[in-house]
Amino acid sequence: MTGSAYDLPEPSYDAELTCVERGTPMGELLRRYWQPVGLTGDAAGRPRRVRILGEDLILFRDGRGNPGLVYPRCCHRGTDLYYGKIEADGIRCCYHGWLFDAEGRCVEMPVEPNNGESFKHKVRQPWYPVRERYGLIFAYMGPPDRQPLLPRFELLETLDAEEFVEGDDTGIGTGGGDIAPCNWLQHYENVMDPLHVPILHDGFSGTQFVGPMGIIPEVRFETFAYGVRSYQYRDLDDGRSLNRITETVLPNIRVVASPRLVPGRTESIGWTLPIDSSNYRIYTAARVREEKSIRGQRSKPGGKAWQDMTEQEHQDFPGDWEAQVGQGVITYHSEEHLGASDRGLIMLRKMLRTDLKAVAEGRDPTGIARTPGKELVPSAAGNWFSDESAPA
Ligand code: FES
Ligand SMILES: [Fe+2]
Repeated sequence: MTGSAYDLPEPSYDAELTCVERGTPMGELLRRYWQPVGLTGDAAGRPRRVRILGEDLILFRDGRGNPGLVYPRCCHRGTDLYYGKIEADGIRCCYHGWLFDAEGRCVEMPVEPNNGESFKHKVRQPWYPVRERYGLIFAYMGPPDRQPLLPRFELLETLDAEEFVEGDDTGIGTGGGDIAPCNWLQHYENVMDPLHVPILHDGFSGTQFVGPMGIIPEVRFETFAYGVRSYQYRDLDDGRSLNRITETVLPNIRVVASPRLVPGRTESIGWTLPIDSSNYRIYTAARVREEKSIRGQRSKPGGKAWQDMTEQEHQDFPGDWEAQVGQGVITYHSEEHLGASDRGLIMLRKMLRTDLKAVAEGRDPTGIARTPGKELVPSAAGNWFSDESAPA
């Protein structure tokens, strides 16, 4: 083995695990779950373009308060509903005035005989069901007969006094901007990669991961009913020990223990949402005591907002953004050399592949609930100090 770059074979990536567009295996798996498509306030009286899993769609809210998510090309002759007008009963196409309700039914055709009385039942604007919870709007983009219940999360259902749940789309966790120009799995795998923390974050996460806390933790991974969980043990200077528990809830939910080491259960749930195969963003729902307090949790590499850093500062204080976007738009799996420290993401990939197979064979993937009461997702994630009660 000379190691010469001259001998590098043509690189390739695992499209099955990474690509999310319609008809791809992972795209099909992700479409079996409710995915966040916006903040509650994003559905309003003006049509809004959204891009989810490689599909361009129009989000709106009719005058009666119902959110709607529709295919952008009008089913009459294809005009973009982005230019439509929102009315009490739905969205009206700018071109010939067909009016569609929030579920795509055509309710008026003003220039057809009799307002389309005998025609409007024969067309339907393609649409997806949407639901609102935790300050977010969720869409189900999968086969209609496979629609699961919208999950609830134990962490967001039990509130302490003065707490309420808030949604956020400012990229908590990307380590940089709101929309990261790389594949979603690069970020999602990072959630099960706790051993990058004492190395990469040594430079900027603050005192909690340097010095005594920055020691390489003892890490254990295990699978559970919803995904993969990591336990990170550290002995602290003051004689206590810390067990930091982080979870990946399949297929793309992150339940990360507070990096500021807030004691006790985790405050937030995040969805690593693929915009397409080359871009992702994170929607977060969190228990907070003050409005807009989630965005204050964004990391500040070198003490500066990421957007304000110079090129040299990005080199001096690289963080999650630099590390993950730095892997390329879609990382070349053919060039990886996974070690013992990568066990968490190996387990995650394995579980995702099992779910890809389940969907291909017509079965439900992990965590799908259709019986009311069964849609509650439990969690053990948090920072559990030895002098406090920890989950069993
Ligand atoms: S193209 Fe929309 S009503 Fe004609
Ligand atoms: Fe990180």
